[in-house]
Amino acid sequence: MTTRTRILTGITTTGTPHLGNYAGAIRPAILASQDANADSFYFLADYHALIKCDDPQRIQRSRMEIAATWLAGGLDVNRVTFYRQSDIPEIPELTWLLTCVAAKGLLNRAHAYKASVDKNVETGEDPDAGITMGLYSYPVLMAADILMFNAHKVPVGRDQIQHVEMARDIGQRFNHLFGNGKEFFTMPEALIEESVATLPGLDGRKMSKSYDNTIPLFTSAKDMKDAISRIVTDSRAPGEAKDPDNSHLFTLYQAFASKAQEEEFRAELLQGLGWGEAKSRLFQLLDGQLGEARERYHQLMSRPSDMEDLLLVGAKKARAVAAPFLAELREAVGLRSFVNQAAAPVAAKKKAAKAARFVSFREDDGSFRFRLLAADGEQLLLSRHFADGKAAGVVTKQLQSGDALDVRTEALGFSVWLDGSAVADSAGFADEASRDAAIEALRVALTPLED
Ligand code: TRP
Repeated sequence: MTTRTRILTGITTTGTPHLGNYAGAIRPAILASQDANADSFYFLADYHALIKCDDPQRIQRSRMEIAATWLAGGLDVNRVTFYRQSDIPEIPELTWLLTCVAAKGLLNRAHAYKASVDKNVETGEDPDAGITMGLYSYPVLMAADILMFNAHKVPVGRDQIQHVEMARDIGQRFNHLFGNGKEFFTMPEALIEESVATLPGLDGRKMSKSYDNTIPLFTSAKDMKDAISRIVTDSRAPGEAKDPDNSHLFTLYQAFASKAQEEEFRAELLQGLGWGEAKSRLFQLLDGQLGEARERYHQLMSRPSDMEDLLLVGAKKARAVAAPFLAELREAVGLRSFVNQAAAPVAAKKKAAKAARFVSFREDDGSFRFRLLAADGEQLLLSRHFADGKAAGVVTKQLQSGDALDVRTEALGFSVWLDGSAVADSAGFADEASRDAAIEALRVALTPLED
């Protein structure tokens, strides 16, 4: 049996999709979902939208427009699990479990949050002026989106790579703390489609709502035509040779044309095709390719209850995965039924303890030391120096006795004490949370076997 690759991506529901969104994200995602090996989870990230927008009307409009755009664009809901984030209560629940293991220091480093802080500082405001906990915790919610479904690949724009890395980091921390050797979460990888077009907008800069230079996608043929007529060109007159490679109008054409169409258009421009005529060629090309989808889009928008039904089916499919998995995670962190408790965690601890081992060695200066290695070979402790092997042995024995461990933290490390002196030390850690996770791992590893 071949396991399919789970591809997951979220679409933040703010704004109305434009041609750049279509070419850069929607079209490639729909194509990718048609691959027989792809198990695609695409969703409307409407909880994320709330972070950026407090206008309920706009939130609602955008959710509908984006759902209709993807469906009209050819997304096959029988192949793909297509849902609204806000229809999956397991996601905010997982967000909390992850929030409790995510290092604050990690989130301090998130680009979006840092950019807001920098802006405040620049303008002499309080650093956190206008910054919500939503913005701050944005990467944790996104980690929950991704980890909830154990996605392998996460297609995103470059600005989102850091968030996928944070999802890995947070997921790994959770695995380490609660997995007892089991990897609950798959480590996701960001997928950056290098070949995918970033379309230029009317003025030649990247097409983006924030530059107000977009070409509308499905609103109407007239809107599209009007926008195209505003594409900035150079001042060469009809009859003068144009330079296709320095024309963003040509780049736009290229993104939708076949090789043959592209070559023909290039030749015509070189032969002096006027810009007005060139614009109408571009309109014809786009209208030919998107006209039918535009029809479907307006049909969908006029029958919102059909879309509601489709999305509820999608939510049901997604929850069939999320609910049992979340139940397992709740169990792992200790949110368990009071009935039939205890058996599982003890067995797990036994296994972890069995796997940890002491390795002693002799230093060049003749002293004796040991390392304590976890099941995965990670070094939990390095001992201080002992005069002879026997002294070292006494200490390792005492550490395994099951007596309460005397662990003392110092900055981003810790040491273990016995009878008033330090006997072994940890490595240094990047932050307190990793240090504390290592202490927990040490305690688990030293829990004695019960029989
Ligand atoms: N933050 C993403 C963006 O702005 C949207 C998003 C939310 C997402 N959750 C996700 C993307 C999970 C991929 C996976 O583009």
